[in-house]
Amino acid sequence: MHLKKLLASLIFTTGFLIPGSIDAQQKNNIVVNAGRSIATVQPTMWGIFFEDINLGADGGIYAELVKNRSFEFYMPLMGWTVKEDKINEGSVMVLNRQEENIANPRFACISKKEAGNSLSITNEGFRGMGIKKQLRYDFSVMYRQHAPGLTMHIELLNGSGKTIGNAVVTPSSDTVKEWKKAAVSFVASDTALRGKLRIRFEGTGVIDLDMISLFPADTWKQRPGGMRADMIQMLADMKPGFIRFPGGCIVEGHDLAVRYQWKKTIGPVEDRQLIINRWNSEFAHRPTPDYFQTFGLGFYEYFQLAEDIGAEPLPILNAGMACQFNTAELVPIDQLDPYVQDALDLVEFANGDTNTKWGKFRANMGHPAPFNLKMMGVGNENWGPQYVERLKIFTKALKARYPDLKLVNSSGTDPNGERFDYLNGELRKMNADIIDEHYYRRPEWFLANANRYDNYPRNGPKVFAGEYAAQSDKTVSINNRNNAQTAIAEAAFMTGLERNAAVVNLASYAPLFAHVDGWQWTPDLIWVNNLQSYGTPNYYVQKLYSTNKGTDVVPALLDGKAVAGQDSLYASAVVDKNKRELIIKIVNASQKERMSPISIEGINKIPSEAMLTVLQSNHLHDVNSFDKPQNVAPKESTIALKGKTLNFMAAPNSFSIIRIKI
Ligand code: AHR
Repeated sequence: MHLKKLLASLIFTTGFLIPGSIDAQQKNNIVVNAGRSIATVQPTMWGIFFEDINLGADGGIYAELVKNRSFEFYMPLMGWTVKEDKINEGSVMVLNRQEENIANPRFACISKKEAGNSLSITNEGFRGMGIKKQLRYDFSVMYRQHAPGLTMHIELLNGSGKTIGNAVVTPSSDTVKEWKKAAVSFVASDTALRGKLRIRFEGTGVIDLDMISLFPADTWKQRPGGMRADMIQMLADMKPGFIRFPGGCIVEGHDLAVRYQWKKTIGPVEDRQLIINRWNSEFAHRPTPDYFQTFGLGFYEYFQLAEDIGAEPLPILNAGMACQFNTAELVPIDQLDPYVQDALDLVEFANGDTNTKWGKFRANMGHPAPFNLKMMGVGNENWGPQYVERLKIFTKALKARYPDLKLVNSSGTDPNGERFDYLNGELRKMNADIIDEHYYRRPEWFLANANRYDNYPRNGPKVFAGEYAAQSDKTVSINNRNNAQTAIAEAAFMTGLERNAAVVNLASYAPLFAHVDGWQWTPDLIWVNNLQSYGTPNYYVQKLYSTNKGTDVVPALLDGKAVAGQDSLYASAVVDKNKRELIIKIVNASQKERMSPISIEGINKIPSEAMLTVLQSNHLHDVNSFDKPQNVAPKESTIALKGKTLNFMAAPNSFSIIRIKI
């Protein structure tokens, strides 16, 4: 009832508002009562889910341009081309130091005996390298030198092989026994969408190379070795309430050996042990044999990202189970301890004092202040009694040490059916904090389920709509599009999430990013190539909800009922106590204009105009693209208000937001 208090205080000072005014509801009007808070909107309500799929991390937000920089891919020279005038066997060898360095065993040994014989290695990048004219590029390499004498010419090439940037690295003139870092920066003279990096060796000598790296200078917050700024900016613009990471199925792995282990993703990047990305071979129609996780983007960076964009971090940990679509490997219950310990240690890493083991680790990485972790997921899409059995052990240990930590639990892969019913029942018996529900369904499902949560119990576990996306075709099909129809269907469904903010505390679309030349899954919220990124219509829907989140849900009713599909209309409303605004969301999912009069209750004096934002397209199949990134995008205008009833005309296939100052 905070809202009532605020409204009461406003009456006292301005005389504008009448809380709880109960004018008779007009038939066929959507009646919005701005004076009656029916639920608090959690700050976490609209968030994002980041998974390293579709080249989301390596080749995506992690701005490293060199693929297979440490020669650890299964094919150690994948991504590299060796060229020499006269072939000398053994001029480029990959050596494996095995136990001496388990995290990063391989390196390349370059041996050049004839000064006149040209020798180079070229890296193709992740589907090429995006190079920008006039931008600085930072090259670095770890090296050991057995016989001095080689000079390295670092050359950026455009798609036609023309040099568009170069620098020289002259290693020490002595033998170098310990690994040493050399770095050089240079400016690119031209732009290239699919550039390459060539290292040309001049002179004679023998040198070992590892961690060959190239980063643009314009990373997010200009952090060296950081993230791609345009992609992160798109996330920051959404003002997400939380970020769920790192997955998704990559948390589980094909098998347990390649599950995600956060402790292997922190510390110096050269010590982070690479593993295969489980999306590498998941779909026969989209094989991605060069997809690995180098973990240059690891848990420290995820926490930092969350902090940067003002989102609550929501890490998801492996529950002792590999992906049940793949091997379904399980850790025997009596061997679950290390997994549980990882979860306990993660809280210490995020929040612990700097004199604790993991708090100190965080501080040494550059963040002495805690990251304020409040939520953690145990398991991604796990199901069955095996999950419940393991989850109980995690829950007991985590709650004993951290009673305030909120745990997110899986309800499986689908929003209904036997698996869901079983888990939903079990988790409710366990009094779970938050249940994670996933729905990848056709647009019609989203429209028909806008009232899904209207009758969910208000007490007991909260819901996290953790992964959802309307599918225009089969999931992962090449014809599955982020089009206007799917965006509008999601917007309609989300009125139901918002209306039920008393139950639904978090929601996020999935997946977040896709590289046009390297995707495995469709549809995806944001599409990128090596230089550009654009938001789909679905992105704008997510952003509009998140940036119009409000603080309190207020009733928006048609004939006393939730507006959830009558005449293809969907509506919800919130008040933002801080901005002093009433925000009404209306979706018209039909192909025809719909007159939808709105009566506003609970406000005595209605201002003469309101802000209107509309996302609309007459063609259900309309999409955005690199050429037309704003083809289906929100447009802003003002509308005149006269009295308490607004004769609102909802355009066909549209999502409208009306903001009224109160
Ligand atoms: O978002 C893509 C995948 O969909 C996620 O990894 C998984 O949780 C779900 O099956």
